[in-house]
Amino acid sequence: MSARLVVLISGRGRNLRALIEAVADRRIDAELVAVISNRADAEGLAYARDAGIATEVVAHGDYSTRADFDAALANCLRRHAPDIVALAGFMRVLGDDFVREFSGRMLNIHPSLLPKYPGLHTHRRALAAGDTEHGATVHFVTLEVDGGARVIQGAFKCTAQDDEARLAERVMQEVELHIYPQAVCWMARGELRLVDGAAHFRGAPLAQPLSMQQLEDAFK
Ligand code: GRF
Repeated sequence: MSARLVVLISGRGRNLRALIEAVADRRIDAELVAVISNRADAEGLAYARDAGIATEVVAHGDYSTRADFDAALANCLRRHAPDIVALAGFMRVLGDDFVREFSGRMLNIHPSLLPKYPGLHTHRRALAAGDTEHGATVHFVTLEVDGGARVIQGAFKCTAQDDEARLAERVMQEVELHIYPQAVCWMARGELRLVDGAAHFRGAPLAQPLSMQQLEDAFK
């Protein structure tokens, strides 16, 4: 049976769209059972609706505490019984109980070469530091924000033309839209697991995250 995939979004949903496409053409062997947003106005919800995928909104503003929001989100997720939870531009920090419950099933994509620049404004920070390389990382979600075991990372060389907006676009087009569908594909096949806090790929722990070199042709 195909893995049950749920995607969590907050905004534009370009990563979501790439996942929808990869599921639709069977590059990812999963059923995309629901898309959940913490914002009713997330543009990405339209991609899900157009694809006939169930959408849910759990609006953080409707809850007075973070714990209440987490509980509502966890309830919503449970109803969809996900094998894989992919955070795709989901802009809320999740509490410890939530993370524990979905541990090992939950991936995130972050727009930096982690462990560099966890948190916000990653492109600006890479520019300010004069970095010659930038990119994005897929990692398991664990209790440390943006600190879970890294799965795959894609990097490119920065150029003199790269301002913040251009870097953001390059990270999305050159890296994120390739590595995230690939990572979810591996999860769906059972090739990627979290074992005692470490990412295991095809049965062996990863000493380093995988790279763009390991992308299968279907994801290049
Ligand atoms: C991506 O850069 C992702 O890494 C970050 O937020 C952005 C989301 O973009 N967490 P989109 O919603 O997938 O278009």
